[in-house]
Amino acid sequence: MANAASSAHIPEVVLGSSVGPKSMPVLAFGTAADNIQPNLLKTAVLEAIKLGYRHFDTAAIYGSEQTLGEAIKEALKLGLVASRDQLFITSKLWSNDAHPHLVIPALKKSLENLQLEYLDLYLIHLPISAKPGKLMVGELVSAPVDLMPLDFKGVWAAMEESQKLGLTKSIGVSNFSSKKTETILSFATIPPSVNQVEMSPFWQQKKLRDFCKANGIVVTAFSPLGAMGTGWGTNHVLESKVLQDIAEARGKTIAQVCIRWLYQVGATLAVKSYNKERLKQNLQVFDWELSEDDLNKINQIPQHKMMLKEELVSADGSSSPYKSVEELWDGEI
Ligand code: A2P
Repeated sequence: MANAASSAHIPEVVLGSSVGPKSMPVLAFGTAADNIQPNLLKTAVLEAIKLGYRHFDTAAIYGSEQTLGEAIKEALKLGLVASRDQLFITSKLWSNDAHPHLVIPALKKSLENLQLEYLDLYLIHLPISAKPGKLMVGELVSAPVDLMPLDFKGVWAAMEESQKLGLTKSIGVSNFSSKKTETILSFATIPPSVNQVEMSPFWQQKKLRDFCKANGIVVTAFSPLGAMGTGWGTNHVLESKVLQDIAEARGKTIAQVCIRWLYQVGATLAVKSYNKERLKQNLQVFDWELSEDDLNKINQIPQHKMMLKEELVSADGSSSPYKSVEELWDGEI
């Protein structure tokens, strides 16, 4: 819980099938970025903890686990948080470890990087596997190589095992369509707690949100502001006229309107900033509301998926199990 007197309180959502049960702060600090300097990230994490952030999102492929781990250690040493269990840490299984026998070793490696004994949430990063091998940090923007079909059932069973072993409090998926999430649900004994996907006012994910809600799965938005400054980002969101008009009328910023919109439609999110003022600004979204009229205007924004991930597709089937982006996203594009 965010309980320091000077810091913001971030609402939490209870995850259905976690050990505990576990509450997850709805707003996370995201650490996916190209070439972020470790000292900048560490400073930003410590600043974020001072401001009230308690949920930190990383992944094996981001190359940010070690720095995040150092920042957490420092925060505990400085007494910025009283104990590890006041933080919520999410990490993700990269594709070349997405094989049943490699899930637990990969999770243990993430824990070693983070200097932690358990994660709060562990996600399958993508619905695809790749030949086992050395993890190439920096593949985030390009693609995993030597793609293979994901053994959905075997990998999920290993994810369940990792929760049962106490290596993580909860498990979930990322970049999974409704259909692929349904596949997991068809054999899961522990259903996924979370599906983390691209979501913003420009890619609202209505179908997936309805599906997840009906199945007790929390949706987490990544790139909620359009991920400007990253290799996959767009300025559509932060330069949107519709969002700007709403922001001006409410005396808020476009980023705040976006974050508030996500919260109001029931999503959680991981937002990135390495700037103290913007980190603070992004938390100031829980004591005001968008009106029905604002929500209707946002609903009418033309939809555009930013991350199609064409690099995971091979039209002739020679280098990927997915022959088209339609197949990868099961038509949710
Ligand atoms: P910065 O680190 O300079 O604040 P996303 O969360 O969608 O991936 O977007 C991240 C990008 O949005 C980063 O470039 C970040 O830059 C910028 N950003 C984060 N918060 C704000 C804000 N409140 N206003 C404007 N830009 C923001």
